[in-house]
Amino acid sequence: MQKMFVSTPIYYVNDSPHLGHAYTTFIADMLKKYHSLKGKEVFLLTGTDEHGQKIALSAAKHGLSPLEYASKISQNFKLEWDHFKIDYNYFVRTTDRAHEQAVQHAFESMLQKGDIYKGTYEGAYCVSCESFATNSTTCPDCNRPTTKVAEESYFFRLSRYQDRLLEFYDKHPSAILPLFRRNEVLSFIKQGLYDLSITRTSFEWGIALPAHLNEPKHVVYVWLDALLSYVSALGYGAGGAQMGYFDNAMHIVGKDILRFHAIYWVAFLMSLELPLFKQLCVHGWWMIEGVKMSKSIGNVLNAQELANVYGSEPLRYFLLREAPLGQDGDFGVQALVRRSNADLSNTLGNLVQRLSGLLKPFGGRIESGHVRTHYAPLYAKWQAQLESLEPYLLDLQLHRYLEELWRVFEGCNAAIAKEQPWALAKTDPQKAMALLALVATFLAKSVFFLYPVLPESAYKLAQWLNLSLDHENFKACVQPSYLLPALSLPPIKALFPKLEVQETQKAQAVDASKEVVAVKFEDFSKLDIQVGTITKAQRVPKSDKLLCFQIDFGGQVRQILSGIGLHYNPEDLEGKQVCALLNLPPRKMLGLVSEGMVLSASDKEGLTLIAPLVPTSNGAKIG
Ligand code: ME8
Ligand code: MG
Repeated sequence: MQKMFVSTPIYYVNDSPHLGHAYTTFIADMLKKYHSLKGKEVFLLTGTDEHGQKIALSAAKHGLSPLEYASKISQNFKLEWDHFKIDYNYFVRTTDRAHEQAVQHAFESMLQKGDIYKGTYEGAYCVSCESFATNSTTCPDCNRPTTKVAEESYFFRLSRYQDRLLEFYDKHPSAILPLFRRNEVLSFIKQGLYDLSITRTSFEWGIALPAHLNEPKHVVYVWLDALLSYVSALGYGAGGAQMGYFDNAMHIVGKDILRFHAIYWVAFLMSLELPLFKQLCVHGWWMIEGVKMSKSIGNVLNAQELANVYGSEPLRYFLLREAPLGQDGDFGVQALVRRSNADLSNTLGNLVQRLSGLLKPFGGRIESGHVRTHYAPLYAKWQAQLESLEPYLLDLQLHRYLEELWRVFEGCNAAIAKEQPWALAKTDPQKAMALLALVATFLAKSVFFLYPVLPESAYKLAQWLNLSLDHENFKACVQPSYLLPALSLPPIKALFPKLEVQETQKAQAVDASKEVVAVKFEDFSKLDIQVGTITKAQRVPKSDKLLCFQIDFGGQVRQILSGIGLHYNPEDLEGKQVCALLNLPPRKMLGLVSEGMVLSASDKEGLTLIAPLVPTSNGAKIG
């Protein structure tokens, strides 16, 4: 099997993860999932960058030792990726003993090669970027003031590699994607490369130099330290057990750290005689109202909090779909909600619900036998559409990949609207079935393309379609002759509930409601909660949310309105028992009076009505 290595940057532990980190990590996870389905053995690396002055300063601010502080934040990153079910193979920490040894090994090897010499560094340093800026009072990258440093330092002979770097990019024109980033790198190299200071003496929080140098004052420059994590994680310097993956390496980074990867890292790899990466994927920034979201600016959004309110999958889909990978994007919850409702709920979610509903007259059974008789041209069109996706992915136009994938779902919806299989079912059931089987077949094919972006929903869909998401099945399903084998499709729960913008206040209210408030027993006993049977259920016109129930509570029948229309079909509820709070003041909604409140429970997955475990008399009191 072909091996492949995909990495995220290793993130600084000066502060907890934010949406920008989640974005990079989602891209990496998406690429891993796609290439794994294609049959590659992919090693996904992520981790944390824990040395350097910036971390030491943050730790001091929190009254912790650098290692205590780094361990705490590193754990937050791990929890973040576990929360988002990122499929990483290894989480590297630059404070790992094995990593420190690998860095010393590399330092030694560069020394042996004559690529390292001792000198004095005089110039400006940007603590925030951990970078040297020759003769500049403000950092050319982040515009913050730099500090003057003059210290004894070891240097890496970067200037030696100038021509070889140009030659590398000449020979591998698509080594950096998107292509316009390559020009930035080339012009930087052509301006002339200075040797790079790779040790520091003004602070202690870093990796020591090889012992024989006897330089206790020096620590390794954080970028040399950090970049080497890509190979220390694979066993470099300790037998290199997993270095095979590095023959086909892809690094995903934000544009902020382009130069470190495109120039320093390539030169380091050349010096160490290691394989050079195959691709450096450089994405833009997520901005908030035009300003880069950044820990040091403090305008960061927490991805987990957003996911708790809007769902992990809508968030992941939005980030990958909304902005072209190379460009900056402005993040806003309005746009997130709009996109999720339009693409996930209305287009894909509805398609699945419609298919399942339209299969009812056929007892839920799919038979693909007559798909080609009736729909060969549509099959061919959508097949071509799916075959157009991979080049977009390889070119990192992930938003285009998704846009084109969604054309298939839009096509399916349009075909259903046009062919009216509910009417056909009566006049030409064979043709109606052919259409539904065509749609089901393309959902089956598409589910593999969805999986890298919406892993949980794709998994549910695949289960529904009785497919397992592996390489063999992918190969079989994408064939231009594939048809879904006969199977029964049971009703399926809505995959993507409609979202609404939650005001921050509302979000806080949710948190506040979790606070434990003591309620007196006599207060609780004032609540009149009873069991009743729904005798009639209808949608309220002009509302997709409100349902209107007539509920029999034994002695009395009440009309109660409930905003659960996105979760339930009224037909399915007639005859069901529910629990309702009855002594609320009557309330008018859309012209109808509601005399009580039906009780339900909701979580990330959706909403369920509360009912007694066994049939109970109407009017039974709950207490
Ligand atoms: O640079 N939008 O770590 P870091 C999109 N430790 N992505 C963003 C972002 C934003 N607003 N903000 C951050 C470091 N990122 C070094 C890396 S690698 C050997 C060492 C993402 O914590 C993006 O991937 O500052 C960016 O490159 C990275 O986080 C920087 O993370
Ligand atoms: Mg940064």
